[in-house]
Amino acid sequence: MSISKASAASILLAILAVLAPSIRAADTNLVYSPCTDTTVQKSDGFTFGIAFAPRTSFVFNNTLQLSPCDSRLSLSSSSQLAVFRPKVDEISLLTVNTSGFFPENYGGYMVAFAGRKYAARSNSAFVANSTYTVTSFTLVLEFQKGRLQNLFWKRDGCATCSGNSSFVCLNNQDCAIKTSSCKNRGSGGTVDCSLGIQLAFSGTDKHLSVFNSWYEVENLRQYSLYKLYSNLKDSLTSQYNNFF
Ligand SMILES: *[C@@H]1O[C@H](CO)[C@@H](O)[C@H](O)[C@H]1NC(C)=O
Ligand SMILES: *[C@@H]1O[C@H](CO)[C@@H](O)[C@H](O)[C@H]1NC(C)=O
Ligand SMILES: *[C@@H]1O[C@H](CO)[C@@H](O)[C@H](O)[C@H]1NC(C)=O
Ligand SMILES: *[C@@H]1O[C@H](CO)[C@@H](O)[C@H](O)[C@H]1NC(C)=O
Repeated sequence: MSISKASAASILLAILAVLAPSIRAADTNLVYSPCTDTTVQKSDGFTFGIAFAPRTSFVFNNTLQLSPCDSRLSLSSSSQLAVFRPKVDEISLLTVNTSGFFPENYGGYMVAFAGRKYAARSNSAFVANSTYTVTSFTLVLEFQKGRLQNLFWKRDGCATCSGNSSFVCLNNQDCAIKTSSCKNRGSGGTVDCSLGIQLAFSGTDKHLSVFNSWYEVENLRQYSLYKLYSNLKDSLTSQYNNFF
């Protein structure tokens, strides 16, 4: 296992951006758009997007959970997009800096997605409204023969914040802090409410090698990578305090 600190994404205004290729010898995946299909092998980079919008914007005709790449959703006006390119099979902690981006102003929900013909997307996850903000997430990317099959949010039932009065457990699954405690909200809050998204990869690459990072996250959960992000320590759950 190797651990990397994935670069923070820039938030782009509803444009599905094509990232400039980064120089990495072992990265053989030439697809840099989150809306293009690809297959990957271990050591490749993999581009996916996270769209922020109202929950209803991710559903077409009240029934179909379409990918944000699907133009039928017409997400353009009300949404924000972050694009990431982690290395597959590395445990990464992605951050979305919210010093100038307030998720509650864009509908407060997010969906992770990639692909077009073989589109995959997560369920929509609650991020923030004017009362509560959730800052810690774990996203699992599941591949089969190197093709993305599924993205899902892994919850721990608020185990990481139980008993801590700084946090509220929403729907028995998300540890949330009061949005009024967050910086730059005009309420005198001091907490950096940037989002931390821990990634894990499961399944197989195109040569049928098994991704191990999901296994590692399950085992490392109590240690986590949040210690790498000491500037987030006020908003992340207390269990990580010992490791800063
Ligand atoms: C929307 O859903 C209804 C049934 O729920 C269906 O009759 C209708 O054809 C759908 N419209 C489109 C454009 O898919
Ligand atoms: C977000 O950006 C602000 C301003 O550039 C910076 O002060 C802050 O430390 C950043 N937060 C994180 C979590 O990177
Ligand atoms: C914010 O979200 C929480 C949890 O879903 C909900 O209980 C609360 O009513 C919401 N507040 C507002 C102002 O929408
Ligand atoms: C609650 O969590 C905050 C933020 O991680 C931490 O600063 C505080 O010490 C925790 N309180 C308790 C009682 O664990």
